[in-house]
Amino acid sequence: MDRRSFLTNMSAASLASIAGATTLTAKADALEEAMSDELDKRIAMPWACGIEGTPDPIPGDTRPWYQHDDPRLPKMPEAPTLIDFFKYRFAPASHILQSARLAKINGLDEKIVLACLLHDISVGNLIRTDHGYWCAQMIAPYVDEEVAWAIEKHQALRFFPDESVGYEYPEAYIRFFGADYQPEPYLVKEWEEAKNHKWYMSSRLITLNDLYSFEEGVQVDVEDFTDIIGRNFKQPKEGLGFDGSPVAHMWRSIIWPNNFL
Ligand SMILES: [Fe+2]
Ligand SMILES: [Fe+2]
Repeated sequence: MDRRSFLTNMSAASLASIAGATTLTAKADALEEAMSDELDKRIAMPWACGIEGTPDPIPGDTRPWYQHDDPRLPKMPEAPTLIDFFKYRFAPASHILQSARLAKINGLDEKIVLACLLHDISVGNLIRTDHGYWCAQMIAPYVDEEVAWAIEKHQALRFFPDESVGYEYPEAYIRFFGADYQPEPYLVKEWEEAKNHKWYMSSRLITLNDLYSFEEGVQVDVEDFTDIIGRNFKQPKEGLGFDGSPVAHMWRSIIWPNNFL
């Protein structure tokens, strides 16, 4: 680990724990712990649904591999709805719920509120890398084309300021990726194309309502969006994962993230 870069980019929580230690030994311990935590954070965990790949044995479950239901996760209804996924897999989903709440408070069109609600659904549950593309694909069969487009393009737009609407490069990204990080050429290309597109502002609005820290004490319930989902998300009657759509396997992978095959 590069100590200088670690010390420069240390999170506020780590700094506070080191500053709060009263003796030199305690400070050294706090520093060591912070370094270990920071190292952990630098791996974007690919575990689907946030459960570890090497679980402790579950009493009474003698299967050598999980195939079908994983007892560590709530059982999903047979025909799961989008709201079921929020309740049983995405929860607490604070980031996306708070983004959608903000979009609603800002009086944005329902399509944009829905886009904010769905813009990061793959991140904690399926895959983080290139998440804008994954999220867009997951929902494309069920939403207006503009919603999926906006979500896909937020992958690139997050990295590019737009002063005309007050969107600045996220300060958090300087901490996450370093001050000298340059978005990859494919993202530059995506941004160049998106900014001339008729739906550019829909995607830009996602980034404007994309909160990089949670508003403390604000609890948002997915049921606050039941009506908006009902009007703007075509829920398949067979349930997400079982409607034979080209993306059904993505939803099934969230239902059964540890299937052996
Ligand atoms: Fe995102
Ligand atoms: Fe986000």
